[in-house]
Amino acid sequence: MKGIILAGGKGTRLYPNTIAVSKQLLPIYDKPLIYYPLSVLLLAGIREVLLISTPHDIDNYKELLGDGSRIGIHIEYKVQETPRGLADAFILGEEFIGKDSVCLVLGDNVFYGQSFSQTLQRAIANTEKYGANIFGIMVKDPRAFGVVEFDKDGKVISIEEKPQKPKSNYAVPGLYFYDNDVIEVAKNVKPSDRGEIEITAVNNAYLEKGKLHVTLMGRGMAWLDTGSPKGMHKAAGFVKTLQEMQGFYISCIEEIAWRRGFIDDAKLFKLGQELSMTDYGQYILSLLED
Ligand code: G1P
Repeated sequence: MKGIILAGGKGTRLYPNTIAVSKQLLPIYDKPLIYYPLSVLLLAGIREVLLISTPHDIDNYKELLGDGSRIGIHIEYKVQETPRGLADAFILGEEFIGKDSVCLVLGDNVFYGQSFSQTLQRAIANTEKYGANIFGIMVKDPRAFGVVEFDKDGKVISIEEKPQKPKSNYAVPGLYFYDNDVIEVAKNVKPSDRGEIEITAVNNAYLEKGKLHVTLMGRGMAWLDTGSPKGMHKAAGFVKTLQEMQGFYISCIEEIAWRRGFIDDAKLFKLGQELSMTDYGQYILSLLED
């Protein structure tokens, strides 16, 4: 399975923070926002990644992450000239995806929870079995998201994009798994009223064919909003609190790559040394002492 991170957009809701800097490069406490969705792909065992961003920002991502070999993966880059919608990722990524299945994660989505790796493995298995796997997660106000509608037996009957009157409190987070058909499905999506080819339209197309599996995430799963300064501040506080309490770092890409066997002890040591002036770097080095 291949992985795509979509890190486009103007981030206007965060202005002036994002006038000169891409939103997904801003920090969530001690690491850039993009590390969090990248770590989701690593946890899923995905080592071939395409990062899509704007003409203005793409070089900054290249500077930050390079070709991925530092953490034992392969990262390619693609420019999205205009923000045409999330489903555009599969059209821009057609060559990269090739004949594979694909996981799309939005560059501003932060996930944290017990057994998340297993959840991701199950999503990959579901994608093989059904065709697509997306998630539903309980939120207080789902109006800003894709929302899952269930019938009385709990069967999913539709996904609505940013409904005024949501039919449930289950929002669809920015983490999607599809088989290879997604490229053709995306090409056939008609632009919505806001002129975008919506990921929700892709999901409904899979649903109509009986090929969509919706995995509900329980309350032990944190999905953090980074769409506003307040949201970013809260997410940073969450990361800081957990890291200080438990001593484990959240979304330390070097650690995940090492635990997954993508890099060996010597390489981890080198990465830690390069950052040894920070707590983040010291944490990496401390992993080798246990
Ligand atoms: C997008 C999707 C929406 C999804 C959300 C998750 O919305 O269109 O369905 O729930 O991401 O972050 P956006 O916030 O990009 O408008």
